[in-house]
Amino acid sequence: MPTDARAADFRRRLDHAAEATETALDALLGSGALPGEITRPSRLLEAMRYSTLGGGKRLRPFLVIESARLFGVEGASALRTACALEMIHCYSLVHDDLPAMDDDDLRRGRPTCHKAFDEATAILAGDGLLTFAFDVVADPATHEDAGVRAALVLALARAAGLGGMVGGQALDLQAETASTPLTQAETLRMQAMKTGALLRFAVDAGAMLGGANPGQARAVARYGDALGAAFQIADDILDAEGDTAALGKRAGKDAERGKATLVGLLGLDAARARLDQLVNEAITALQDTGRGDATGVLAEAAQFVAARRS
Ligand code: IPE
Ligand code: IPE
Ligand code: MG
Ligand code: MG
Ligand code: MG
Repeated sequence: MPTDARAADFRRRLDHAAEATETALDALLGSGALPGEITRPSRLLEAMRYSTLGGGKRLRPFLVIESARLFGVEGASALRTACALEMIHCYSLVHDDLPAMDDDDLRRGRPTCHKAFDEATAILAGDGLLTFAFDVVADPATHEDAGVRAALVLALARAAGLGGMVGGQALDLQAETASTPLTQAETLRMQAMKTGALLRFAVDAGAMLGGANPGQARAVARYGDALGAAFQIADDILDAEGDTAALGKRAGKDAERGKATLVGLLGLDAARARLDQLVNEAITALQDTGRGDATGVLAEAAQFVAARRS
């Protein structure tokens, strides 16, 4: 496919994944209680909906859907897994923005959850989204095979928790006040945890749903790791030189708060060079899936991660 057509195909598929995710999240976060739930308190539900609907690039849902499609799976299994992951991502943003963490008041072009509601509601909205994500994956509607559902739950828990996103967030905050700055290796590990783990889960989940063979699973995992690292470097570059209006979140806060970033450690030029290298690593890894041209849209996603302005 010519380069322009490939980029257009990527945009179309990203838009499609975003629309499908929005519709499915809207339905999952409806007001009707599920069997076993007593009631869904309206203010809490409103905060959960505020934090998940009507914004975001939906890159993680896209990656789940496209990775599953690469291995021959389309439909509810991938979409529900995509929604679960997006709920965990949105919860991580709600908590990341709290005064006790990054203390931000703008997210996705709107007031952050604790500004639009209140801190207690934002904490609980995050808790509610995290818990509901596992409900969605464990539900038989996600996959008929309980073994596949359990494997997804386990992988998602590992990616989101102590040794993954939550652990990475803890290291990120500790680094702000540490007496010695993080080394490059420590910074990369912290970023692989806080951001990389959920992006890696996105593509791992597609491989799990599609029954990829071990070699294919390793190849998409390498893609996911490189993409995850690239994603946070791009986020840090955008924080340093991006524009608040385009980003929909306050730019220039990382240096102010003393965040450990590759931009801070190496400077913008070296961070950009590392970003390009990671995009190439991600694209190269895709070749080992043995899926040929079908990987084109994921290769394009890696380019998008580096080139995005928001
Ligand atoms: C922002 O993620 C937080 C990081 C992990 C760097 P995104 O840039 O994917 O945020 P949305 O979902 O598009 O708002
Ligand atoms: C956040 O990283 C990663 C998460 C787990 C939410 P950042 O703190 O850099 O994300 P932004 O810039 O606020 O979106
Ligand atoms: Mg943060
Ligand atoms: Mg932040
Ligand atoms: Mg950031």
